[in-house]
Amino acid sequence: MGKVRIYELAKDLGVSSKEIIDYLNELGMDITSHMSTVEDDIVGLLKDAFAVLEDTTIEEIEELEEEPKVKSPSKKKKKRIVEIDEALTVESFAEKVNVSVTEVIAKLMDLGMMLTKNADLEFDVAAIIADEFGVKLKQKQVNVKGEEASIEDLFRVDDSIERLPRAPVVTIMGHVDHGKTTLLDRIRNAEVAKSEAGGITQHIGAYQVEINDKKITFLDTPGHEAFTSMRARGAQVTDIAVLVVAANDGVMPQTIEAINHAKAAEVPIIIAINKMDASGANPDHVKQQLAEQGLIPEDWGGDTICVPVSALRGEGIEDLLDMILLVSEMQELKAPVECKAVGTIIEAKLDRSRGPVATVLIQQGTLKVSDSVVAGGVYGRIRAMVNDRGQNIKEAGPSMPVEVLGLNDVPQAGDLFQVATDDKEAREIATKRLAKEKEKMQKTTKVSLDDLFAQIKSAEIKELKLLIKADVQGSAEAVKQSLEKVSTSEVKVVAIHTGVGAINESDVMLASASNAIIIGFNVRPDPIAKKQAERESVDIRLYRVIYDAVDDIEKALKGMLDPKYKEEVIGHAEVREVFKVPKIGNVGGCYVTDGKIHRSAKARVLRDNIVIYEGDLGSLKRFKDDVREVAAGFECGIGFEKFNDIKEGDIIEAYQMIQVE
Ligand code: GTP
Ligand code: MG
Repeated sequence: MGKVRIYELAKDLGVSSKEIIDYLNELGMDITSHMSTVEDDIVGLLKDAFAVLEDTTIEEIEELEEEPKVKSPSKKKKKRIVEIDEALTVESFAEKVNVSVTEVIAKLMDLGMMLTKNADLEFDVAAIIADEFGVKLKQKQVNVKGEEASIEDLFRVDDSIERLPRAPVVTIMGHVDHGKTTLLDRIRNAEVAKSEAGGITQHIGAYQVEINDKKITFLDTPGHEAFTSMRARGAQVTDIAVLVVAANDGVMPQTIEAINHAKAAEVPIIIAINKMDASGANPDHVKQQLAEQGLIPEDWGGDTICVPVSALRGEGIEDLLDMILLVSEMQELKAPVECKAVGTIIEAKLDRSRGPVATVLIQQGTLKVSDSVVAGGVYGRIRAMVNDRGQNIKEAGPSMPVEVLGLNDVPQAGDLFQVATDDKEAREIATKRLAKEKEKMQKTTKVSLDDLFAQIKSAEIKELKLLIKADVQGSAEAVKQSLEKVSTSEVKVVAIHTGVGAINESDVMLASASNAIIIGFNVRPDPIAKKQAERESVDIRLYRVIYDAVDDIEKALKGMLDPKYKEEVIGHAEVREVFKVPKIGNVGGCYVTDGKIHRSAKARVLRDNIVIYEGDLGSLKRFKDDVREVAAGFECGIGFEKFNDIKEGDIIEAYQMIQVE
């Protein structure tokens, strides 16, 4: 049901994982690891491609058994697979599948659909008809983010290396004050209290606990921002999300955000209904609210596990850990151990006495002291490793968090961590990556309304994802509904999240990870979010009228968006004296300090860095003459038509609006 791991499937089909991975890669799927999962429909497709028992005769089966070498899918009878990477019409479909248009129209009529040859054909319908022609239709996966493949290659490990069970990695999320930190502390301290060797737990960003001989790794950076910022950088480290909901407060905006973040990452969610001890605790109400979010509790017939706990009193914690283990058992998490380590940076800092210190969550393989390593654009050789108990260790395996020393610089949380053959290779990889990163920064392929049309045309985008924030819930809903209606046959408009309040950092990270555009309705981004959006090149659009938003999206889909303008400062002048000119008013005797001042430029008057006026220049003079421009190092007189309050010391900043391509 649902998802199947590649290596299990390989066992089923009697082929190697590598064959399956190669095959899927050929189909354009971004699968690199034996641990990767595939959806049901892909399983069907693979079964068709590799196993042919259903439609093979007895003789053929015997033949196959005699010749077990014949395993390549190309040599077996299989359905032809046709990949679709753009919107289909009846005609283009017929062409792709290599049948006549009339045949397609006839089949459509059988399905009760009257379509002409130029009509758009939905993928689902096309797939059904293709099936009748003995063709398997596959939608090409579009890699919008353009991740470098070489990094994924890292996780590729030879088949001969045994995969052993590994501990699940758990992230705790939830609304402010619902008890995430208390819960994490409680889980960790329970563990410390139990182990007599004890030692003080060290905060390294993640820790492991052991119950009934089974380990669980907790990421100690609660909050979905951290979770999604890692995902935004391509690191999927979390296996299970624990969502803390206070029983006396219920589902809150950040709870919903967290749900959407976990759903977007396709990570199973376990609900910890916390503060059961508090007065006013109402777990049923919480369940009701969760159900409204599509998370139906198990005892209501759904499949969402809810565990009542009190982090404060330590009640229900064992149950929660049991449930985590149960869910993780179903995931059958495994990783190769006897190979070079690959992992992800969870946290990193510069320590005054120890230099750069980073916590790495090992995801596969074994990390050893004196290994040469690379993390993002940082490299080095492991000088020492410390576990979450503050103990020095020599080796660390899958799902283990360790603090490592010996890097040449501080890596970023979310950076991929890998072992290189030697120091030289480590340095080379890091340097190359830095260069690539720079290049990527220069031509990011994030969606933006401005180049949406181009991306649609090059088939990079099939779905325009929006993250909508508004001043009140009612308008968020209204904006969502109006915008989703703008969908065309080529591009579907989908709101992945709606919320109330200012656009915050978490919104930007979710948008970045999901390649979405943020729509703000009567709200603004907070300063951190604004910076973050620039860094991640996330497009934020602010509106006050729904119609304008609808209009913009409609135009963007058609490639007709009005050009965007941005301002460019062209120069500054300092007011050194103020002259009263009869009939005209006050004129500033100025000195141009940098750039130039242009007669037709727009200008603003700054006093102590505060804008006190903004508008057109009224006059620009050198001595008595009107001039068109004055360059840096010269004196001039500047007056404003509608502003008379110029003072000595004011700075006049001239700027112009230029069109952004
Ligand atoms: P932020 O980090 O600010 O988002 O909050 P948090 O989710 O980490 O919550 P935190 O653990 O700091 O707990 C918030 C408050 O709730 C604290 O005063 C805790 O003592 C209290 N609290 C946490 N768990 C429980 C509980 O099980 N019962 C009761 N009654 N109070 C709790
Ligand atoms: Mg906290």
